[in-house]
Parts: sequence; structure tokens; C-alpha cells
Amino acid sequence: MTERGDEPAHPLVVVMGVSGVGKTTIGEAVASRLNVEYADADAFHPQVNIDKMSNGSPLTDEDRWPWLHAIGSWLNERQATGGVVSCSALRRAYRDVLAGSAAGVTFLHLDGDPEMIRERMARRSDHFMPTSLIDSQIETLEPLQDGERGIVVDVFGSPEGIVETCLSEFSR
Ligand SMILES: Nc1ncnc2c1ncn2[C@@H]1O[C@H](COP(=O)(O)OP(=O)(O)OP(=O)(O)O)[C@@H](O)[C@H]1O
Ligand SMILES: [Mg+2]
Repeated sequence: MTERGDEPAHPLVVVMGVSGVGKTTIGEAVASRLNVEYADADAFHPQVNIDKMSNGSPLTDEDRWPWLHAIGSWLNERQATGGVVSCSALRRAYRDVLAGSAAGVTFLHLDGDPEMIRERMARRSDHFMPTSLIDSQIETLEPLQDGERGIVVDVFGSPEGIVETCLSEFSR
């Protein structure tokens, strides 16, 4: 992201999208390239939420609000330095909590072919999110709408190529 116009000097980015789309992989790399701190929304879940997801139960919105506000606080505390946080942020209402928590929050929606994402997830072993939740996530996803600040990047291809696309989109 550049410093021209109303672009913030210190980017605050929420990497959003369904489970397995690559939020952690791409988010970490983008944060490193932007030289800002990285956080994963998973780290903000209370244990009760993690237990639910481990059992294959989707979270309710009541489960989500405290989690989203905690992520929002993290963003708010980084307005002076910038930061990248990975968070599924599937629904507009969830994103409004995040966008309302700090000035200049930008969404990076990672999007891709569901079959490719399922394959990538099936290969991932070190994670609590079962692949059965992907379909419900795809159903829940509300794409970025008018009035939301963000970009959409397709995740076909290598992580390195995706990161380059993200950075060049940010600097436009
Ligand atoms: N561009 C890519 N090409 C190939 N494999 C990838 C790519 N991006 C991510 N992966 C792999 O796909 C799996 C899912 O990626 P990742 O964990 O980053 O997704 P996520 O969106 O953070 O998922 P979650 O929402 O469950 O945290 C991982 O095993 C990761 O190594
Ligand atoms: Mg992740």
C-alpha cells in the first residue's frame, strides 16, 4: 500500500475467505512483505469456540461477537504501526465489526475454486478445522459489497504468485 492520497501509511489488512483458502499462508507472507505484525483470528477464539469447531459444530453469531471484537481491538491497537490479521469474516455483519474498529481497515478476500480448496484442506493435517465445514462456509460467504473497502484475489497458483498479486493490488 502506498502513502498517496487517503491511503494509510500503515496498512491494516483483514485477510478473509472460507476455511482452507489460504488466509494463514498468504496473510503471514503479506505481513512479512509489508513489514507489519501478523495475527491469526484463530488465536482470538475462547476455548469454548475451539471445542465446538473441533466437534464439527458451526459457531453461532453469539459465539462470534466477542471474538470479532477482540480482533477489532487488535487492529485498533495497530493503527500507528499497521497489521495483517487472517479472519474468515464471511458475513458483512462480521466485517462491519472489524471495519468499525479502526480507520482504514482493508479486506483482502482470497477466493478460489471450492474443489481445489477441499483438496488443499484434505492434505492439511495439523489443524482443528474439519473439511466438512467448508461447504457450510461457502454457503455463508457474503462477498464484499458496495461501501466495503477491499480487493478480491484468486488463489489459483503458488503462494508466492498470490502474494505478488496482493501487493500489486494494494499499491494500485
Ligand atoms: N497457493 C497455495 N497452493 C498450494 N497450497 C496452498 C496454497 N495456499 C495454501 N495452501 C495450503 O492449503 C492449506 C490451507 O491453507 P491455510 O491454512 O493457509 O488456509 P486458511 O484459510 O488459513 O484456513 P483456516 O480458515 O482453516 O485457518 C494448507 O495446507 C496450505 O499449506
Ligand atoms: Mg488459517
